Amino acid sequence: MSCGMMAAGGSLLSLLSSCKSTSIFKTEAVNHLLTVPLSAMNDKKILIVRNASAEYDILLVKKSDNLFTALEMKCTHRANPLNASDGGLYCTLHGSRFDLDGNVVAEPATQPLKKYPVIVNNSLIQISI
Ligand code: FES
Repeated sequence: MSCGMMAAGGSLLSLLSSCKSTSIFKTEAVNHLLTVPLSAMNDKKILIVRNASAEYDILLVKKSDNLFTALEMKCTHRANPLNASDGGLYCTLHGSRFDLDGNVVAEPATQPLKKYPVIVNNSLIQISI
């Protein structure tokens, strides 16, 4: 699918879109929680979660069926927004790279990415921000 958009169900403003190979799930925080339906991951390894009130996106990474990692997509070198692929995250500003656990794999960044707690509650993935 190209950069088209389709609406997802639920009471939140939720849109699922796809640009290049990384899908974006748009939502809003409620009580400091971002909620993503498990079905939004489908067979995806990664999903960008976009909260309109946050400066940076969060990359949701599927580790197994009920285990996820949520990484702030903010370069720890100079705070540039990061790009993501199934192979990891990268910064176009000075070339830092991070793995899907948030660890630095290429400098100049030296600090890992910020992680957010994630729980799976029934059919929902909840990210605490
Ligand atoms: S801001 Fe990302 S490598 Fe410098």
